[in-house]
Amino acid sequence: MFIVMASPECAPVAKAGGLGDFVHGLCRELASRGNAVELVLPKYDSLRFDRIEDLHKVHGDLWVPFYDRAIHCDVEYGEVDGIKCFFIDAHSEHGFFNRGKIYGDADDPDRFAFFSRAVMELLYKSGKHPDIIHCNDWHTGLMPVLLYEIYAGLGMDRTRVCYSLHNVGHQGWTGPHVLHMNGLDADRLMAPERLRDPGNPGAVNLMKGGIVFSNFVTTVSPRYAWEIQHTEQGMGLQDVLQVHDHKFGGVLNGIDYDTWSPQRDTHLPVRYGPETLPEKAKSKTALRARTGLADDFKPLVAVVTRLDRQKGVELIRHGIYYALEQGCQFVLLGSASSPEVNADFQRIKDETDASPDCHLELGYDEDLAHLIYAGADMILIPSVYEPCGLTQMIAMQYGCVPIARRVGGLADTVFDANYSDRPFEERNGYVFDDFTYAGLESALGRAIGLWKRYPEYFRQLRVNGMRQDHSWNGPAQHYLDIYNHIRT
Ligand code: ADP
Ligand code: GLC
Repeated sequence: MFIVMASPECAPVAKAGGLGDFVHGLCRELASRGNAVELVLPKYDSLRFDRIEDLHKVHGDLWVPFYDRAIHCDVEYGEVDGIKCFFIDAHSEHGFFNRGKIYGDADDPDRFAFFSRAVMELLYKSGKHPDIIHCNDWHTGLMPVLLYEIYAGLGMDRTRVCYSLHNVGHQGWTGPHVLHMNGLDADRLMAPERLRDPGNPGAVNLMKGGIVFSNFVTTVSPRYAWEIQHTEQGMGLQDVLQVHDHKFGGVLNGIDYDTWSPQRDTHLPVRYGPETLPEKAKSKTALRARTGLADDFKPLVAVVTRLDRQKGVELIRHGIYYALEQGCQFVLLGSASSPEVNADFQRIKDETDASPDCHLELGYDEDLAHLIYAGADMILIPSVYEPCGLTQMIAMQYGCVPIARRVGGLADTVFDANYSDRPFEERNGYVFDDFTYAGLESALGRAIGLWKRYPEYFRQLRVNGMRQDHSWNGPAQHYLDIYNHIRT
């Protein structure tokens, strides 16, 4: 099957969070099964060029329609961990992809609407007829609209679209100008059953466009699929998702075991697995040395996250003080997108810097993330909502026990040591329901107690998590089944 993946992120060259891991892992797994997979990304100036092999120009004259003119793009090609990847380099006075970062500007909807058009134009001009286009998040939500409205009539009528929702908290709200920009019929497309935002009749909702015009829509865990259809987590899209229920479902993400496995990870001082678990202690020592923590007999609690409201920043803040009070050590690696949250955590860092038991690192650091999963005993994930969450699955691979709020993909993957209805060998962490300090303490307190008083049980929890299969094997087959279903 010929599959084109379109996304704003792919690890490790353009990663802000789990979407980057998703695209990287799924593309590799689909390609390893003999499918022809091509990925298209913007050519950001912030790409990790050292991770792209043999980058070279393949098209010098792609002109992408933009209002009543066209913007000149170059298309470059290179391989990212074996993934065939095309990069669109737009020569526009707006510097669409030359911002030193992936997201976070007021004109993001314009930038990614342009990217969506550029991908479609690239496929059309190079005569490609993929069986499937797999689009991701609001950034590529306009692609199925463009396919249906323009490119199907130009010969791409056999191509089908699978659209994955990774985070319904961001829907690409914008104005009808993005439709004019692309020569689309704004009057017709602004109908309530098409791209009109359910909460604001004057606004275009790009994610809604993707849902309405795709042949199949997925989200990244079964529990989140239910939550966004039936609770306020749908953030206004509940009704749309219910209307399109016949082509909607949740597929739990996998993780790429070549990237995330303590048996193979070259970031660690010594590799280990469930049979050689005592070797994990060497990563704990290395992590303490790297972060300046004392070498003491204490449980080490960690957080690796984007510091965003979604991730439960208030409870993360509380968790730091609570864990320290309970005689733990704490390491946080957090990348904040807002200056306020960054300042808030900088304050906690200043306050706790003198402590030999606490280290906060503000920023994004891939190498440190690997060492934290390997070196920590527990990872705290108190999200407000979590479509899937990869950090709990990665942590479990490394024998690091998750303490998580029971929402979205966390509820589908973390099973409480005491209260789960699962057999003991499937229990792998601690969960809580209430988004309160007491809720968090009830789970973290039990985990710390087990670590201190029943080390053998704690070891068993680690092993239970390490033995679970979170590879891309099952999910990739699920996506192939969906692709085959919409092709027939
Ligand atoms: P989200 O996509 O919502 O951020 P996920 O749990 O799906 O959450 O994925 C997060 C991914 O990003 C993981 O691979 C995690 O290791 C990585 N990550 C998050 N924050 C950081 C950070 N500050 N530094 C390095 N890696 C990070
Ligand atoms: C989003 C979600 C996260 C999910 C990731 C990959 O960033 O916040 O929960 O794991 O996408 O699907």
